[in-house]
Amino acid sequence: MAIIEVENLVKIYKTGDIELRALNGITCSINQGEFVCIMGPSGSGKSTMMNILGCLDVLTFGSYILDGISIQGQSRAALADIRNHKIGFVFQGYNLLQKADAIENVEMPLMYRGVASSKRRKMAKEALESVGLGEQMYKRPVQMSGGQQQRVAIARAIVGKAPVLMADEPTGALDTKTTVEIMRIFTALHEEGTTIILVTHEPDIATWSQRVLRFRDGKLISDEEASQDVSGENEIKPGII
Ligand SMILES: Nc1ncnc2c1ncn2[C@@H]1O[C@H](COP(=O)(O)OP(=O)(O)OP(=O)(O)O)[C@@H](O)[C@H]1O
Ligand SMILES: [Mg+2]
Repeated sequence: MAIIEVENLVKIYKTGDIELRALNGITCSINQGEFVCIMGPSGSGKSTMMNILGCLDVLTFGSYILDGISIQGQSRAALADIRNHKIGFVFQGYNLLQKADAIENVEMPLMYRGVASSKRRKMAKEALESVGLGEQMYKRPVQMSGGQQQRVAIARAIVGKAPVLMADEPTGALDTKTTVEIMRIFTALHEEGTTIILVTHEPDIATWSQRVLRFRDGKLISDEEASQDVSGENEIKPGII
Protein backbone atom coordinates (compact mmCIF):
# COMPACT_ATOMS: atom_id res chain seq x y z
CA MET A 1 0.00 0.00 0.00
CA ALA A 2 1.30 3.46 -0.93
CA ILE A 3 2.02 5.67 2.05
CA ILE A 4 3.34 8.49 -0.15
CA GLU A 5 1.80 9.42 -3.50
CA VAL A 6 3.05 12.42 -5.41
CA GLU A 7 1.71 13.52 -8.78
CA ASN A 8 3.13 16.21 -11.06
CA LEU A 9 4.72 17.95 -8.12
CA VAL A 10 6.15 21.38 -8.95
CA LYS A 11 7.95 23.66 -6.53
CA ILE A 12 8.74 27.21 -7.52
CA TYR A 13 10.79 29.42 -5.23
CA LYS A 14 10.20 33.14 -5.68
CA THR A 15 12.91 35.59 -4.74
CA GLY A 16 11.77 39.10 -5.71
CA ASP A 17 10.95 38.90 -9.43
CA ILE A 18 13.01 35.79 -9.97
CA GLU A 19 11.31 32.41 -10.09
CA LEU A 20 13.24 29.20 -9.68
CA ARG A 21 11.62 25.89 -10.54
CA ALA A 22 13.33 23.60 -8.01
CA LEU A 23 11.03 20.64 -8.77
CA ASN A 24 9.55 20.23 -12.19
CA GLY A 25 6.81 17.62 -12.36
CA ILE A 26 7.69 14.75 -10.01
CA THR A 27 5.42 11.71 -9.98
CA CYS A 28 6.18 8.77 -7.71
CA SER A 29 4.79 6.62 -4.98
CA ILE A 30 6.42 4.92 -2.01
CA ASN A 31 4.92 1.91 -0.31
CA GLN A 32 4.59 1.36 3.39
CA GLY A 33 7.70 -0.38 4.70
CA GLU A 34 10.02 0.56 1.83
CA PHE A 35 13.58 1.83 2.35
CA VAL A 36 14.24 4.41 -0.37
CA CYS A 37 17.26 6.60 -1.12
CA ILE A 38 17.11 9.88 -3.00
CA MET A 39 20.29 10.73 -4.91
CA GLY A 40 21.39 13.36 -7.40
CA PRO A 41 23.81 16.24 -7.86
CA SER A 42 23.86 19.34 -5.69
CA GLY A 43 20.96 21.64 -6.54
CA SER A 44 18.91 18.87 -8.17
CA GLY A 45 16.01 19.33 -5.74
CA LYS A 46 16.57 16.55 -3.17
CA SER A 47 16.14 18.69 -0.07
CA THR A 48 13.24 20.55 -1.64
CA MET A 49 11.55 17.19 -2.25
CA MET A 50 12.24 15.98 1.30
CA ASN A 51 10.97 19.20 2.83
CA ILE A 52 7.72 18.88 0.91
CA LEU A 53 7.34 15.18 1.71
CA GLY A 54 8.11 16.01 5.35
CA CYS A 55 5.44 18.75 5.40
CA LEU A 56 8.11 21.32 6.26
CA ASP A 57 7.39 23.19 3.03
CA VAL A 58 4.45 23.35 0.63
CA LEU A 59 4.26 22.45 -3.04
CA THR A 60 3.37 25.01 -5.72
CA PHE A 61 1.44 22.71 -8.10
CA GLY A 62 0.53 19.05 -8.14
CA SER A 63 -0.74 16.72 -5.48
CA TYR A 64 0.68 14.95 -2.45
CA ILE A 65 -1.18 12.28 -0.51
CA LEU A 66 0.44 11.09 2.72
CA ASP A 67 -1.04 8.00 4.34
CA GLY A 68 -4.38 8.73 2.68
CA ILE A 69 -4.41 12.43 3.64
CA SER A 70 -4.37 15.07 0.91
CA ILE A 71 -1.66 17.54 1.93
CA GLN A 72 -2.21 20.52 -0.36
CA GLY A 73 -4.43 23.26 0.95
CA GLN A 74 -3.97 22.27 4.60
CA SER A 75 -3.49 25.09 7.11
CA ARG A 76 -0.13 25.51 8.85
CA ALA A 77 -1.58 24.17 12.07
CA ALA A 78 -3.07 21.14 10.34
CA LEU A 79 0.24 20.49 8.57
CA ALA A 80 2.14 20.66 11.86
CA ASP A 81 -0.26 18.14 13.34
CA ILE A 82 -0.01 15.77 10.37
CA ARG A 83 3.78 16.03 10.50
CA ASN A 84 3.84 15.30 14.20
CA HIS A 85 1.87 12.08 13.81
CA LYS A 86 3.12 10.79 10.47
CA ILE A 87 6.74 11.84 10.09
CA GLY A 88 10.02 11.73 11.91
CA PHE A 89 12.64 14.00 10.31
CA VAL A 90 16.41 13.78 10.74
CA PHE A 91 18.62 16.63 9.49
CA GLN A 92 22.28 16.63 8.51
CA GLY A 93 23.04 19.21 11.20
CA TYR A 94 21.04 17.36 13.92
CA ASN A 95 18.92 20.47 14.76
CA LEU A 96 18.90 19.78 18.50
CA LEU A 97 18.02 22.40 21.10
CA GLN A 98 21.38 23.29 22.60
CA LYS A 99 19.99 24.37 25.97
CA ALA A 100 18.06 21.15 26.49
CA ASP A 101 19.54 17.79 27.44
CA ALA A 102 19.12 14.67 25.31
CA ILE A 103 15.93 13.43 26.95
CA GLU A 104 14.26 16.86 26.76
CA ASN A 105 15.11 17.05 23.06
CA VAL A 106 13.55 13.65 22.48
CA GLU A 107 10.43 14.57 24.47
CA MET A 108 9.77 17.64 22.32
CA PRO A 109 7.45 16.08 19.68
CA LEU A 110 5.43 14.47 22.47
CA MET A 111 5.03 17.83 24.19
CA TYR A 112 3.45 19.23 21.02
CA ARG A 113 1.14 16.25 21.08
CA GLY A 114 0.12 16.95 24.64
CA VAL A 115 1.40 13.67 26.09
CA ALA A 116 1.52 13.77 29.91
CA SER A 117 4.97 14.37 31.38
CA SER A 118 5.57 10.99 33.04
CA LYS A 119 4.52 9.10 29.93
CA ARG A 120 6.68 11.44 27.83
CA ARG A 121 9.75 10.68 29.94
CA LYS A 122 9.15 6.96 29.69
CA MET A 123 8.75 7.02 25.90
CA ALA A 124 11.79 9.29 25.43
CA LYS A 125 13.88 7.01 27.66
CA GLU A 126 12.90 3.98 25.59
CA ALA A 127 13.70 5.79 22.32
CA LEU A 128 17.13 6.81 23.63
CA GLU A 129 17.82 3.26 24.84
CA SER A 130 16.87 1.91 21.42
CA VAL A 131 19.60 4.03 19.79
CA GLY A 132 22.15 3.01 22.42
CA LEU A 133 22.08 6.23 24.46
CA GLY A 134 20.57 4.90 27.68
CA GLU A 135 23.59 6.20 29.58
CA GLN A 136 23.70 9.66 27.97
CA MET A 137 20.17 10.89 28.60
CA TYR A 138 21.06 13.93 30.68
CA LYS A 139 23.86 15.26 28.51
CA ARG A 140 23.44 18.40 26.45
CA PRO A 141 24.30 18.36 22.73
CA VAL A 142 27.57 20.25 23.37
CA GLN A 143 28.73 17.38 25.62
CA MET A 144 28.14 14.78 22.91
CA SER A 145 29.94 13.64 19.75
CA GLY A 146 28.39 14.20 16.32
CA GLY A 147 27.32 10.56 16.12
CA GLN A 148 25.71 10.73 19.58
CA GLN A 149 23.89 13.95 18.65
CA GLN A 150 22.59 12.33 15.48
CA ARG A 151 21.36 9.38 17.53
CA VAL A 152 19.51 11.81 19.82
CA ALA A 153 17.96 13.32 16.68
CA ILE A 154 16.93 9.84 15.50
CA ALA A 155 15.43 9.07 18.93
CA ARG A 156 13.46 12.32 18.64
CA ALA A 157 12.29 11.30 15.15
CA ILE A 158 11.09 7.86 16.26
CA VAL A 159 9.72 8.61 19.74
CA GLY A 160 6.23 9.34 18.43
CA LYS A 161 6.16 6.09 16.45
CA ALA A 162 5.46 7.90 13.18
CA PRO A 163 5.17 5.50 10.24
CA VAL A 164 7.67 7.40 8.06
CA LEU A 165 11.24 8.34 8.90
CA MET A 166 12.89 10.88 6.61
CA ALA A 167 16.52 11.89 6.74
CA ASP A 168 18.36 14.50 4.63
CA GLU A 169 22.05 13.54 4.46
CA PRO A 170 21.99 12.22 8.04
CA THR A 171 25.55 10.95 7.88
CA GLY A 172 26.97 13.84 5.84
CA ALA A 173 28.90 15.20 8.81
CA LEU A 174 29.98 11.85 10.29
CA ASP A 175 33.02 9.58 9.91
CA THR A 176 32.83 6.09 8.41
CA LYS A 177 32.49 4.14 11.66
CA THR A 178 29.75 6.42 12.99
CA THR A 179 28.02 6.36 9.60
CA VAL A 180 27.84 2.57 9.81
CA GLU A 181 26.36 2.78 13.34
CA ILE A 182 23.69 5.18 12.12
CA MET A 183 22.91 3.05 9.04
CA ARG A 184 22.50 0.02 11.30
CA ILE A 185 19.91 1.93 13.33
CA PHE A 186 18.00 2.82 10.13
CA THR A 187 18.16 -0.82 9.03
CA ALA A 188 16.77 -2.02 12.37
CA LEU A 189 13.94 0.52 12.15
CA HIS A 190 13.21 -0.61 8.62
CA GLU A 191 13.07 -4.23 9.81
CA GLU A 192 10.52 -3.16 12.42
CA GLY A 193 8.32 -1.84 9.60
CA THR A 194 9.17 1.87 9.42
CA THR A 195 9.14 3.42 5.95
CA ILE A 196 12.51 5.10 5.43
CA ILE A 197 13.41 7.84 2.94
CA LEU A 198 16.96 9.02 2.98
CA VAL A 199 18.87 11.59 0.91
CA THR A 200 22.49 10.75 0.28
CA HIS A 201 25.38 11.69 -1.99
CA GLU A 202 27.17 8.42 -1.38
CA PRO A 203 26.50 5.36 -3.54
CA ASP A 204 27.73 3.12 -0.71
CA ILE A 205 25.02 4.43 1.60
CA ALA A 206 22.42 3.73 -1.09
CA THR A 207 23.39 0.03 -1.03
CA TRP A 208 21.72 -0.19 2.40
CA SER A 209 18.38 0.70 0.81
CA GLN A 210 16.03 -1.18 -1.54
CA ARG A 211 15.31 1.49 -4.10
CA VAL A 212 17.04 4.57 -5.47
CA LEU A 213 15.27 7.64 -6.86
CA ARG A 214 17.64 9.82 -8.87
CA PHE A 215 17.00 13.54 -9.34
CA ARG A 216 18.52 15.93 -11.85
CA ASP A 217 17.49 19.54 -12.54
CA GLY A 218 14.29 19.14 -10.53
CA LYS A 219 13.23 15.99 -12.35
CA LEU A 220 13.09 12.35 -11.34
CA ILE A 221 15.37 10.76 -13.93
CA SER A 222 15.45 7.18 -12.65
CA ASP A 223 13.72 4.91 -10.17
CA GLU A 224 15.55 1.63 -9.71
CA GLU A 225 16.20 -1.20 -7.32
CA ALA A 226 19.26 -0.39 -5.19
CA SER A 227 22.44 -2.20 -6.10
CA GLN A 228 23.10 -4.93 -3.58
CA ASP A 229 26.66 -5.25 -4.87
CA VAL A 230 28.72 -5.26 -1.71
CA SER A 231 31.99 -6.16 -3.36
CA GLY A 232 34.80 -3.63 -3.38
CA GLU A 233 36.83 -1.81 -0.82
CA ASN A 234 34.54 0.60 0.90
CA GLU A 235 33.71 -0.27 4.49
CA ILE A 236 30.45 1.71 4.50
CA LYS A 237 28.71 -1.03 2.52
CA PRO A 238 26.42 -3.23 4.61
CA GLY A 239 27.71 -6.67 3.63
CA ILE A 240 31.26 -6.00 4.75
CA ILE A 241 30.61 -5.02 8.33
N1 LIG B 1 14.54 28.65 0.05
C1 LIG B 1 14.95 28.73 -1.22
N2 LIG B 1 14.76 29.85 -1.94
C2 LIG B 1 15.15 29.94 -3.23
N3 LIG B 1 15.76 28.93 -3.89
C3 LIG B 1 15.99 27.79 -3.23
C4 LIG B 1 15.61 27.62 -1.86
N4 LIG B 1 15.96 26.37 -1.45
C5 LIG B 1 16.56 25.78 -2.52
N5 LIG B 1 16.57 26.63 -3.58
C6 LIG B 1 17.07 26.32 -4.93
O1 LIG B 1 16.37 25.18 -5.42
C7 LIG B 1 17.24 24.29 -6.10
C8 LIG B 1 17.21 22.93 -5.44
O2 LIG B 1 17.79 23.05 -4.15
P1 LIG B 1 17.87 21.83 -3.11
O3 LIG B 1 18.32 22.40 -1.83
O4 LIG B 1 16.59 21.09 -3.13
O5 LIG B 1 19.01 20.93 -3.78
P2 LIG B 1 19.73 19.60 -3.24
O6 LIG B 1 19.57 18.57 -4.30
O7 LIG B 1 19.24 19.28 -1.88
O8 LIG B 1 21.26 20.04 -3.20
P3 LIG B 1 22.43 19.61 -2.16
O9 LIG B 1 22.91 18.27 -2.61
O10 LIG B 1 23.46 20.67 -2.39
O11 LIG B 1 21.88 19.61 -0.77
C9 LIG B 1 18.62 24.95 -6.10
O12 LIG B 1 18.78 25.63 -7.31
C10 LIG B 1 18.54 25.91 -4.93
O13 LIG B 1 19.37 27.01 -5.13
MG1 LIG C 1 20.15 19.23 0.02
